[in-house]
Amino acid sequence: MINRTFTMIKPDATEKGSTGGILQMINAAGFKIVAMKMTHLSKEKAGEFYAVHSERPFYGELVEFMSRGPITAAILEKDNAVEDFRKLIGATNPANAEEGTIRRKYAASIGENAVHGSDSDENAAIEGSFFFSALEKF
Ligand code: CMP
Repeated sequence: MINRTFTMIKPDATEKGSTGGILQMINAAGFKIVAMKMTHLSKEKAGEFYAVHSERPFYGELVEFMSRGPITAAILEKDNAVEDFRKLIGATNPANAEEGTIRRKYAASIGENAVHGSDSDENAAIEGSFFFSALEKF
């Protein structure tokens, strides 16, 4: 079934100039970009996006990191989008990410792991709407 997932290219990847290379891998894997923008999250907005992790010990570090610099947010369409995109990005910890995955190639650590990918259809819809209005989704 054709469905959608949500991704962010995180501040570490933006700083290293990896945005183009990551988008190339996303396109090569058959994902269609149906919304995209570059933006800079405030600490408040980063905290809100990751509110589900607010009780985790790494939450403060995550909010600092995600508000450190610009990110690229996008909604991606493909059959089996959520699961296939998580395969394409690889494990959260790049040390465990398989060869050929985005995190294997571009991520430095479990915290600074280059990209985000939604973990369910429901969260993909919530996360996409966090960044994009109906007029910005194609
Ligand atoms: P992401 O897939 O965007 O979802 C939650 C994020 O929290 C994750 O990527 C990492 O950036 C971060 N994260 C997860 N586990 C840890 C950890 N143990 N230490 C620091 N950051 C983490």
